Amino acid sequence: MTPAARVAAAIGILDQVLAGSPAEQALLRWSRASRFAGSADRAALRDLVFGALRRRDSLAALGGALSGRGLMIGHARAEGLDLAAIFTGTGHAPAALTEAEASVSPPDTLPDDLPDWLRPAWTRALGPQAAAVATAMTARAPVWLRVNMARTDPDRAAARLAEEGIATTPDGTLPSALRVTAGERLVARSRAYEAGLVELQDLSPQRACAALDLAPGLRVLDYCAGGGGKALALAARQPGLRIAAHDAIPARMADLPARAARAGAAIRIDTRPQGPFDLVVADVPCSGSGTWRRTPDAKWRLDQAALDRVVALQAQILDRAAGLVGQGGRLAYMTCSLLEAENGGQIDAFLARSPDFRAGQRHLWTPLSGGDGFFLAELHRG
Ligand SMILES: C[S@@+](CC[C@H](N)C(=O)[O-])C[C@H]1O[C@@H](n2cnc3c(N)ncnc32)[C@H](O)[C@@H]1O
Repeated sequence: MTPAARVAAAIGILDQVLAGSPAEQALLRWSRASRFAGSADRAALRDLVFGALRRRDSLAALGGALSGRGLMIGHARAEGLDLAAIFTGTGHAPAALTEAEASVSPPDTLPDDLPDWLRPAWTRALGPQAAAVATAMTARAPVWLRVNMARTDPDRAAARLAEEGIATTPDGTLPSALRVTAGERLVARSRAYEAGLVELQDLSPQRACAALDLAPGLRVLDYCAGGGGKALALAARQPGLRIAAHDAIPARMADLPARAARAGAAIRIDTRPQGPFDLVVADVPCSGSGTWRRTPDAKWRLDQAALDRVVALQAQILDRAAGLVGQGGRLAYMTCSLLEAENGGQIDAFLARSPDFRAGQRHLWTPLSGGDGFFLAELHRG
């Protein structure tokens, strides 16, 4: 596909997303209907679509319209591309610019690419960093790997990855973390990954798991285990943990036994955990506002009602998970959100209604420190 044909395809996909279709689904539909497209085309298209959604409002301002076409005109202007070479109206290229499109004058200040309704909560949560974090959310997220320290060390893992064309650089603050600088799309098919030497895991959840004190023999429950990212990270850090994994939708844990086997980790699936546990990790469903670099369409889909629903669900899960913590044990509450209602506000409300728990460490990581937005609160029982 020519660059102009890719832009034309991106316009169609963005129109579907703006009409309410999740971006992944719209991209998949396009791929299925476009057998002529190669993997380079699909990757380029994905970059165009996700890049435009991260900066939806500012590109619309530059392009003169909140439409697929407006966003792509805005993208071309933002990148300093030659509009006349893309919008030619010939072959598979998008139609030539109208006079009105050609004469759009960019505003003095571009929007911050946050939904209007959310800006007050964003500012409350992030204070003086609010604007910088909003800007950071408009960039593509790096790919992070967690070295399985139970199997190898970062230097050896990096060398094995390099043999397969995957370049990495250490994080510098967390020994297990490698940032992928080239060959990102090769990771999941690499021998190093297949052999369980590395896992795909963002830097911030790695930091959260590294912040928890562990000791051999500890009874640990990953209460919202999903694919098991947190259970695997804890198992890799501390041999001898007795780890159980639970999820309200057990099918979400379908890949966990294979992942655990690959990593050499012993993780038991437990669909009816009874407790008591020494450590219960509750990596709860959330707005995902910390991961909007990866799922930028979710930023525009979230509304107050959906946020209220997820906050209520988190409170319910917290209470259930707390009931599984033994005396002297801990609850580690985690979200990939930056919003106070899901983080500090949720924890303060829990502590107010749970006199047998007291506050422990709390951390909020933002993209300004390299990883996704992520929150950890540790709560001690007794
Ligand atoms: C943020 S995801 C977990 C991601 C996972 N910990 C990981 O690292 O890959 C939240 C999970 O909570 C699960 N969940 C939703 N409601 C739940 C509930 N009431 N009790 C337990 N798990 C629940 C969801 O099915 C989902 O898999």
